[in-house]
Amino acid sequence: MSHGPRSGLAAVSSALLAMSRHLEVRDVLKTIVASARELLDAQYAALGVPDDHGGFAQFVVDGVSDEQWKAIGPLPRQHGILAAMLHEATPERLADVRTDPRFGGWPSAHPDMVDFLGLPIRDGDEVIGALFLANKLRPVGGVAGHPPHPPCPKPEGTCGFTQDDEDLLGILAQHAAIALTNARLYERSRELTIAEERSRLAHELHDAVSQKLFSLRLTAQAATALVDRDPDRAKGELHQVATLAAEAADELRAAVVELRPAALEEDGLVATLRTQIQVLDRAHGARVTFAGHGVKALPAAQEEALLRVAQEALHNALRHSAAEHVDVTLRRHGTATVLRVTDDGSGFDPRTVRRAGRHLGLVSMRDRANGTGGRLNVRSEPGKGTTIEMEVPGG
Ligand SMILES: Nc1ncnc2c1ncn2[C@@H]1O[C@H](COP(=O)(O)OP(=O)(O)OP(=O)(O)O)[C@@H](O)[C@H]1O
Ligand SMILES: [Mg+2]
Repeated sequence: MSHGPRSGLAAVSSALLAMSRHLEVRDVLKTIVASARELLDAQYAALGVPDDHGGFAQFVVDGVSDEQWKAIGPLPRQHGILAAMLHEATPERLADVRTDPRFGGWPSAHPDMVDFLGLPIRDGDEVIGALFLANKLRPVGGVAGHPPHPPCPKPEGTCGFTQDDEDLLGILAQHAAIALTNARLYERSRELTIAEERSRLAHELHDAVSQKLFSLRLTAQAATALVDRDPDRAKGELHQVATLAAEAADELRAAVVELRPAALEEDGLVATLRTQIQVLDRAHGARVTFAGHGVKALPAAQEEALLRVAQEALHNALRHSAAEHVDVTLRRHGTATVLRVTDDGSGFDPRTVRRAGRHLGLVSMRDRANGTGGRLNVRSEPGKGTTIEMEVPGG
């Protein structure tokens, strides 16, 4: 323990700096507690952050060894003097915490505490925690370099912690409030980023990877059916299986590292759509056609969105509609580009599709269209087939 002049500006300043250096709530709390104990020469320091159920969401101590901490058992409840600091939000400076009428006793392994100083940590009107110290190690004016035995010798009935200590702890508590609030905001924003990332990945996996796997399964089934009757064609289908598996692996990698689909990068949208549709035409019973009219290269984000929407619309038509024909067109419309996927299958009532839950396709198509400043139009009716149209604006 260092024993410079403990109220020295430098010591306080470096404690405050240490507090704001951390980003994780738990590290901030640890720094606050350690600084408070060090600056005020206490044997024990603790900081509790209340939860909404009468307990502590977090409780950080300093001066207690890990073994001791384990032996003490479960976290304290918000009762006695801790409760008073949280609920009445008043500072408490006590000569002997054990004789206070609110004292409810320690768990058996709890270290003995005598003089006590506690302060609420406030953020505006809200009490977001309590900071407290026990067992002053040096009397005021004690000699540096001569650590006394705790608790310090002091006149009977007086608290080792002084009004100066209380003021200093008050300053720490104010800074603790700021550091704690900042750390919480940081953690919240990081959680949001993670949630967004998870949703992006779910869409990406749904749009790209699950469709490839679907085609893969169909092609493998075709190969199985052909293997006795027509080994040569079965061999051809198996080559197709290998190709699709490689593509699925590429899509997966691309989804994870957020790359453009490799085919788009190399061949552009029109050629990519044409090839993929030829594959679907061969793999499925339905006749699947493609026509592209006068569409030049588009910005990367638009090409990717158009490809994903085309893939999902095709996938839905082939999986749900039992159509005989599925036709895809891509054409210029003024400065805009329009993708249309039409099937002559069963159709459905778009209003009855549940938004949440397992159906990601329609939601994802709409998100992709909106994400490029475009729009998605779903026209379908039971018995009348389905048309999905996506329009993206030109530059
Ligand atoms: N072309 C279509 N023909 C007939 N029904 C369709 C067609 N497209 C969608 N549907 C119906 O709309 C529902 C919702 O489609 P959506 O793409 O959102 O989810 P999904 O295909 O069921 O599942 P996911 O796409 O998440 O794998 C489908 O379950 C299906 O009943
Ligand atoms: Mg779908």
